[in-house]
Amino acid sequence: MPKVITLPGDGIGPEITAAAAQVLREVAPDVTLEEHALGGGAYDVYGDPFPQRTRDALSEADAVLLGTVGGAQDSPWNKLPRPQRPESGLLALRKALGCYANLRPVRVQPGLEHLSPLKPELARGVDILIVRELLGGIYFDQDRKIEGDAAYNTMRYTTPEVERVARVAFWAAEQRRGRVTSVDKANVLEVSELWRRDVQALRDRSYRGIHLNHEYVDSVAMLIVSNPSRYDVILTENLFGDILSDLAAVIPGSLGVMPSASLGDGAGLFEPIHGSAPDIAGQGVANPAAAILSAAMLLRHGLKRPDAANQVDRAVAFALRSHPTRDLGGQADTGTFTRAVLEALDTS
Ligand code: NAI
Ligand code: MG
Repeated sequence: MPKVITLPGDGIGPEITAAAAQVLREVAPDVTLEEHALGGGAYDVYGDPFPQRTRDALSEADAVLLGTVGGAQDSPWNKLPRPQRPESGLLALRKALGCYANLRPVRVQPGLEHLSPLKPELARGVDILIVRELLGGIYFDQDRKIEGDAAYNTMRYTTPEVERVARVAFWAAEQRRGRVTSVDKANVLEVSELWRRDVQALRDRSYRGIHLNHEYVDSVAMLIVSNPSRYDVILTENLFGDILSDLAAVIPGSLGVMPSASLGDGAGLFEPIHGSAPDIAGQGVANPAAAILSAAMLLRHGLKRPDAANQVDRAVAFALRSHPTRDLGGQADTGTFTRAVLEALDTS
């Protein structure tokens, strides 16, 4: 029987994870859900934001469903030394799982174009998948220093690191519209020159059916919001992907509808892209759509159940139209929205 570890975390995390777990139980009743601690709450109980017992539980997991971690700005957690803070627990978790490919779908559902800050004719039909390298590059390289009035960080990639994440992008494109845009800054950076060379070579060797093009990150930053429909899969390294995916997140109109999947060699990690929303935590009004859509990604990529994943995707799209939550200008609270999803599951 497949096992999913749930890590509700802090703030609205427990509320939205409960909603996602309810949906999972409905569409995959044979899956065992086992809850563990991560983040600030975990620090309060165990003195560690990523406690050993959570780490141990991962070895038996087929997939991990995460809520959110972190406290309000004035939270005592923010005064702790960096390794004990909630967000450090999350970084350690990603590293422990070896999740090197972060997938962020950016989709504007039909009938929800009005939520986007873009003109409706630009927002309509947007369906982009950003594949971001998550464990390498300038964020992780240990060749770094600040000393006096000088500092440096190092952006370094190796061919195996480029190829493993590029394979994920090509594989994803095969299930979609067959187009990959690889994003770099090859006109000025050696590391981008290597990235471009290796991505192209892999395409020519193993993915000849995929249409691949290369674009510069600064130009993509403009085009992704001025003409988002030109993209299918966007493949990029860690730093560029961090910035571009936050930029692209404005397109659907609310953080509350943006899921993500982080894949590697072992169990995948599935989580909404938003934070713990301390301003609305405990009120039962958070939009659980991102968490439920993350559960759909878990079904698709973690448990290889595409039919159940599609069923959940359809039910969420239906509920977003019939019962929009407050962040979308509607009235529905977490419970009402979740019930609408569960009802739509029965009929879809
Ligand atoms: P945030 O994403 O928590 O909130 C930004 C705004 O969006 C808030 O007004 C919030 O109410 C709203 N919002 C977010 N998700 C929502 C949802 N599902 N439904 C309705 N409204 C929603 O970002 P913020 O305020 O910068 O960070 C709060 C805490 O979360 C901090 O401690 C931060 O470090 C942490 N954080 C955690 C992340 C994670 O667990 N992956 C990611 C980003 C931030
Ligand atoms: Mg970021």
